Amino acid sequence: MTKRMGYQDWRCLSLWLHYFVLLWSTIDGQTRYSITEELKQGSVVGNLAKDLGLTLSEMFDRKLRVASEAGEQYFTVIAGKGELVVNDRIDREALCGQSASCILPLQVVIEDPLQLFRVEVEIQDVNDNAPKFPSNNIILEIAESTVTGVRFPLESAIDPDVGSNSVKSYTLSKDECFSIVIKEVAGGRKVPELMLSKVLDREKRAVHKLFVTALDGGNPVRSGTSQVTVRVLDINDNVPAFEKPSYKISVAENAAEGALITQTKATDMDDGQNGEIEYSFGAHTSDDVLSLFSIDQMSGTIFLKGKLDFETTVNYELDVSAKDKGNPRMEGHCTVHVEVLDVNDNPPEIILTSHPKPVREDSPNGSVVALISVRDLDSGDNGKVTLHLPLKCKFVLKPSFSHNYALVTSGVLDRENVSEYNIEITATDSGSPPLSSKKIIPVSISDVNDNPPVFTQPSYDVYLKENGVPGSILFSVSAFDLDFGENAKLSYSILDSKVQDVSVSSYVYINSDNGSIYSMHSFDYEKLKVFQIQVQAKDQGSPPLSSNATVHVFILDQNDNAPAVIYPSSAALGSLSHQRMPRSAKAGHLVTKVTAVDADSGHNAWISYRLAEATDASLFTVNLYTGEVRTKRAASEQDDSSQRLLIEIKDDGEPVQSATVTVSILLEDGLHEPMLDLRQKVAEPSKKTGRITLYLILSLASVSVLSLVTFLILAVKCIRNSRSSGSCCMRRSDCDDYKNPNRNLQIQLNTDGPIKYVEVLGGDMLSQSQSFRSCMSPMSEYSDFTLIKPSSTTDFKEVISVLDASLPDSTWTFESQQVSRK
Ligand SMILES: *[C@@H]1O[C@H](CO)[C@@H](O)[C@H](O)[C@H]1NC(C)=O
Ligand SMILES: *[C@@H]1O[C@H](CO)[C@@H](O)[C@H](O)[C@H]1NC(C)=O
Ligand SMILES: *[C@@H]1O[C@H](CO)[C@@H](O)[C@H](O)[C@H]1NC(C)=O
Ligand SMILES: *[C@@H]1O[C@H](CO)[C@@H](O)[C@H](O)[C@H]1NC(C)=O
Repeated sequence: MTKRMGYQDWRCLSLWLHYFVLLWSTIDGQTRYSITEELKQGSVVGNLAKDLGLTLSEMFDRKLRVASEAGEQYFTVIAGKGELVVNDRIDREALCGQSASCILPLQVVIEDPLQLFRVEVEIQDVNDNAPKFPSNNIILEIAESTVTGVRFPLESAIDPDVGSNSVKSYTLSKDECFSIVIKEVAGGRKVPELMLSKVLDREKRAVHKLFVTALDGGNPVRSGTSQVTVRVLDINDNVPAFEKPSYKISVAENAAEGALITQTKATDMDDGQNGEIEYSFGAHTSDDVLSLFSIDQMSGTIFLKGKLDFETTVNYELDVSAKDKGNPRMEGHCTVHVEVLDVNDNPPEIILTSHPKPVREDSPNGSVVALISVRDLDSGDNGKVTLHLPLKCKFVLKPSFSHNYALVTSGVLDRENVSEYNIEITATDSGSPPLSSKKIIPVSISDVNDNPPVFTQPSYDVYLKENGVPGSILFSVSAFDLDFGENAKLSYSILDSKVQDVSVSSYVYINSDNGSIYSMHSFDYEKLKVFQIQVQAKDQGSPPLSSNATVHVFILDQNDNAPAVIYPSSAALGSLSHQRMPRSAKAGHLVTKVTAVDADSGHNAWISYRLAEATDASLFTVNLYTGEVRTKRAASEQDDSSQRLLIEIKDDGEPVQSATVTVSILLEDGLHEPMLDLRQKVAEPSKKTGRITLYLILSLASVSVLSLVTFLILAVKCIRNSRSSGSCCMRRSDCDDYKNPNRNLQIQLNTDGPIKYVEVLGGDMLSQSQSFRSCMSPMSEYSDFTLIKPSSTTDFKEVISVLDASLPDSTWTFESQQVSRK
């Protein structure tokens, strides 16, 4: 192993030798060797023996020695070879420091003779040291706003090597903001400087870690590195920035006070106070907004402070600013759009755009009554309004342009039924929940003259006593009119007609204001029994309407006529009437017959006869009903031949009217039975009896003629009446009216002059009265008609049967008397 090592050494040595020979040749006159530092021990420096001109033996013999001036034995001489070799480690930097040349002087001593030689060994530098920075972490603080080009000196690196082996250059790790420049200072020392090539931004990189490397010029190059930490100092160069430039928020208008609207957030990239943010509303925020919203200074949260109202403001723009606390303070802005959402908080409103006018009751379908509009402050569905009318309303709403309606009629109006409508209109919006409101529209219906006056009865029956006072109220009619005002203002009048060929207006007049009818003179039942008045009521509408009513005026009989004696006539024969009778007359002999008539009717004409005074009351009797004067007993010789009878004739009226007649009777001895007398007179007329007989014949004939004439007149009148009006002879079948048992009936024998007809009056005395009249059939044999006066409760049918019985041929009928006599 050693052998092998020795071989290597030799090879190395031979190389070095070659090198030294070259070096040797350059030394002029002086033995000088040049070696590099840090050679291994035993490395040959030079062949000292040869260079000093000594042989090996000589050298050995003369005890050649090498002494170092410094005292350190770096070298030694190998005796056998005469070579100077390195004895110890030679560090140039330790021996010579930074001096450029490093020479170790050696003294070579040879004894026998003592000779001194000076040998110099120049130690050449070897790049055995790397550059080194005094500290391996350099800290720099640079403000971020520093302008580019500013240099920051760094410590130089130290390399103990000299010359080219010392520090030659610096490099810097890659960084966009920094570059390195090298400044040569006096003495050729190189100082590295950090130059700012781009403005620093703390917010991007707060710390820059750089590596500075120092390189020497050796071969191979050695280097040393130091870290440079650049801390970027903050400058308030960042505006607080909001997350969003604008926020959009929707809030319902009914949001409660204190409700959170939104949270704004701004960030400031600066550090410390430069990055501490305070929020506020912008400087130009209106008072409106300030009264409604508040912002939390620290958190940027916006709250609702007041009450929102969609109907006044739909949008709010809040300018929010965020300010940091740096110097100067930086400010960032954002906008918050607050959209107010509609809530159905406004009920619809019904507005009358035109006030309702009174509507004529005859308005056609679709007449406009009022104009209406609806309004709802809400929007969208909340403001969509529908209108409703009550069911069965006589009006409908007709939509016109937006939200406007016309209230029009639909159907027939009648003021007389409903004079005013209160139309309730309901408006409902479509919100959820819906809101509604109501409005009542009064519509009055104006009158149209569509109702004629109506009399309380279609016809009136008036019973009027004869002989009344002229100018007294006869009756009052009244009518009413359903219309209103002038249309209901009535005036009454009497339509002209004729009563007994005289205008009715000469009988009565009417108060046109209240319908009172006045008589203009007193009526005489015996002249006029019934007449009718056509009354008209007329309103003052335009055109006026009228209606008619008939007033039947029945004149009621008063007992104003005393019975009148027809026979024996006092007028013809003076106050005394002489009757003759034979003294031989038996009891029951008809002496004479007193006949009287009464112009009144009914009870007032019901005549009775009574013997009031007599010369001999035992001899004569008067039939109460017939007026026949008969003998009560047979006359005797003792009886006075001249008898006077005072006969009183009374009617049944109230007050009673009466008349008297005096009959004087002569009892004659020679006189026989009247028939015999008559025959006797024909056979043997005497002057006196012949005259009496003549009187008798005359009076009988006159009675007969009178009755014949009566029948003829009656017959003629009846035929004429049946032709002109058909009122005379009537149908028995027409029995509905006389079935009623409650009727009062009155059958009157008309004795107005010659007997003409029988009048049957029926009805509830004062109201509905009917009058029946019957005429005698001309062929009737009945001349002497007995008055029938049924009591008020008698069934009318009974009366008819009585009449039937008394008139056997039943050719007469009844009819309601409607037509006045012409
Ligand atoms: C009025 O019009 C309504 C509908 O619009 C209809 O039902 C009614 O019969 C009409 N009435 C008259 C009198 O025309
Ligand atoms: C009168 O009006 C009422 C409702 O108010 C109605 O029921 C009736 O039918 C009307 N009568 C007439 C005659 O129009
Ligand atoms: C009508 O008017 C007249 C005069 O003013 C008066 O005498 C009469 O009593 C009135 N009739 C009625 C029914 O009121
Ligand atoms: C009333 O009577 C008059 C005269 O007779 C007549 O002209 C008129 O038409 C009548 N009026 C009515 C409503 O009947």
